[in-house]
Amino acid sequence: MSKTNINENIVESLIGTTIEKKKSRIPARLDFLQSATGLFLAVFMIFHMLFVSSILISKDFMLSVTKAFELSFLFEGGSTIPVFIAISVVFAVFIFHAFLALRKFPINYRQFLRLKTHSNLMKHSDTNLWIVQITTGFALFFLGSIHLYTMLTNSGNIGPYASADRVYSDYMWMLYILLLIAVEFHGAIGLYRLSVKWGWFDSGDAKESRRRLKRVKMIMTVVMLLLGAMTLIAYMKIGYEHQANYGERYTLSSNIGDK
Ligand code: HEM
Repeated sequence: MSKTNINENIVESLIGTTIEKKKSRIPARLDFLQSATGLFLAVFMIFHMLFVSSILISKDFMLSVTKAFELSFLFEGGSTIPVFIAISVVFAVFIFHAFLALRKFPINYRQFLRLKTHSNLMKHSDTNLWIVQITTGFALFFLGSIHLYTMLTNSGNIGPYASADRVYSDYMWMLYILLLIAVEFHGAIGLYRLSVKWGWFDSGDAKESRRRLKRVKMIMTVVMLLLGAMTLIAYMKIGYEHQANYGERYTLSSNIGDK
C-alpha cells in the first residue's frame, strides 16, 4: 500500500469521509456482495432440496442424482473430485456471506438494547423479520459449518445408504432438524428482504407489494419445511432399517451403479 493510500485511510478512519469529503463506496459494495452471495446460497438451497428429496421418489433415483454429480456420464464409475470442488465453492461462499453479515450484528449491550427497544416501540413486522434473520443466521454459522465440513470430508460417501446411515446411525438427524428450521426461515426471509431492498416484483404500490411478497415468503417456508421434514423422515426410515448393515453401499436394482 502506498504512503498516500495509508494517509487517506487514516483520514477516513478518523472522520468517516475521504479526503475529498466523499463517503466511501466500500460499504455499498459490501452490501451488494452480501446480497449477491445471499441470492446464490438461497437459489442453491432450493436446488439442494430438490436433489436431496430425490430419495422420496426412490433409492435408485437418489443414486442416479449422486452419480450425475460425480460426472459418471463422463468418466467410468464417476469421480468424487467434482463433488469435492462443488462443496468447496459453496463452503467458501457460505463463509464469505457470514463474514459480510458480521457487520450487521448488534455487537455490544448498548446496540442490543437499542434494537430491542426500537423493535418494542415500533412493532414493525419487517424489523421483527430482521431479528429472526440475524438469530437464524447466527445459528447457521455453527450448524451449516458442521454439515458442510462433514460433506467435504465425505464427498465420496453420499448415496441412499451412505446418507441414511449418516442421518440415523451417526445421529446427524438432530443437527438436520435444527439446520432445516434455521435455513428455511433464514433463506425465505433473506429472499423477501432482497426483493424489498432491490425493488424486484415492485407493482408501484409499496404496501401491496410487501403484502404479496410476505405471502410468497410464508408459502415458501411452509413448502420447504414440509418437503425437508418428509425427506428427513425418509432417510431416518432407511437408516433404521439398514442399521445392521451400517457402512454397506447401495447398488442399483438394475446393477449399473456401485454405491
Ligand atoms: C455443496 C454443498 C452441500 C452438499 C453436497 C449437501 C449434501 C447433502 C446431503 C447428501 C444431504 C442428505 C443427508 C446426508 O447425506 O448427510 C443433505 C442434507 C441436508 N442439508 Fe445439505 N449439502 C450441502 C450444503 C448445504 C447447506 C449450505 C445447507 C444449509 C446451510 C444444507 C442443509 C441441509 C439440510 C437442512 C439437510 C437435511 C435434509 C432435509 O431435511 O431435507 N446443506 N445435504
